Amino acid sequence: MISRATQALFLVAATVFVVGCSEQESAPSAPQTVQTVQTGDAAVTRDTPKGLDFEFYRESVEPIFIRYRGGFVGSDTACVACHTVQANAPLGLLPLTEENGEVFWTEAQSRENMANVALLVNPSAPETSRILAAPLAPTAGGEAHSGGIFWDSSDHSEYRLIAQWIATGDPSAGAEPTVDVDFEFFRACVQPIFVNPIDNAMPCTECHSGQFAIPNPDNSYWTVEQSQESFAELMTFVDPGRPDYSRFLHKPLHPNAGGDLMHNGGRRWYSQDDPERQALEAWVLGDATGDQCPSALQFDFPPRP
Ligand code: HEC
Ligand code: HEC
Repeated sequence: MISRATQALFLVAATVFVVGCSEQESAPSAPQTVQTVQTGDAAVTRDTPKGLDFEFYRESVEPIFIRYRGGFVGSDTACVACHTVQANAPLGLLPLTEENGEVFWTEAQSRENMANVALLVNPSAPETSRILAAPLAPTAGGEAHSGGIFWDSSDHSEYRLIAQWIATGDPSAGAEPTVDVDFEFFRACVQPIFVNPIDNAMPCTECHSGQFAIPNPDNSYWTVEQSQESFAELMTFVDPGRPDYSRFLHKPLHPNAGGDLMHNGGRRWYSQDDPERQALEAWVLGDATGDQCPSALQFDFPPRP
């Protein structure tokens, strides 16, 4: 419901949103709703994360996440197939409730989901929201997304609906504060992990050399350019400030300790409290910076520059 708490709000018009006819029939539609428009710099005072409209979210945004897309590969897959809490990527959605043959999120679950989705939106500048950038084609201004491209342009009906929803938020509510994950610390203390396997394991470079685990040049340290490239790649698996949503800290963790159920590359950490993993958590939180490595992250190889 739209809150009537703010006196400054007044009813302007009954707006019915119409979804563009270019989309197929299954395209979601915006709720037919009475829009409250605010005047001047009055703030929205809904008691929800960032003042976002919960009804709108539940009716029109959440169905996008479970929408059947025809298959099980890349962008044929429903968002929820990859974005459950267990996957530990941003946009952690709760497991669906199953009851009498129906599969759905309860209202309480939807509220929890919305709180998580709200971390990815920026009502003060909706188009910069991470939730809009990830599924959007990079050629249309989107960000690289492991899940693939879902929207060729920002005219896609799903993009527009989510943008409309973000606009219901408090315009003074911004994105989450940015946490700087330090490059210098990465280069000095994190990158060597990729070439220093634990016993009976293969180095990350064996399988991820085309990604974040660029091999070091023979007998010397990575060039700064190589480190920058590796860092940029790894950052797609790091959610700054949120170790729990960072796949880099999750994939190589043993499932018994809360890690991913599957990783072709085996495990590196057998406990959440593994000192190396804890040192990496501090880095993801923005607390570890510079080139003085903590003892858990001291490696002799490759030779220092
Ligand atoms: C095939 C699996 C898969 C599907 C399907 C998928 N995603 Fe993702 N998504 C990922 C993975 C893995 C990440 C974390 C790595 C990354 O950012 O690419 C991610 C990251 C994200 C992020 C965070 C990006 C950032 O700023 O860090 C958002 C937002 C997101 N996905 C939204 C969506 C939405 C919305 C859908 C459905 C339209 C979707 N994803 C479908 C796998 C998927
Ligand atoms: C034997 C090959 C192999 C090795 C060695 C390996 N991995 Fe992987 N890794 C994979 C494969 C294949 C995938 C994708 C399928 C999966 O999740 O298992 C993957 C997935 C990942 C992902 C998630 C990527 C995504 O798109 O969500 C991360 C993060 C990761 N590995 C980190 C590491 C780290 C860190 C190391 C070294 C400590 C490592 N891997 C070693 C094969 C390997």
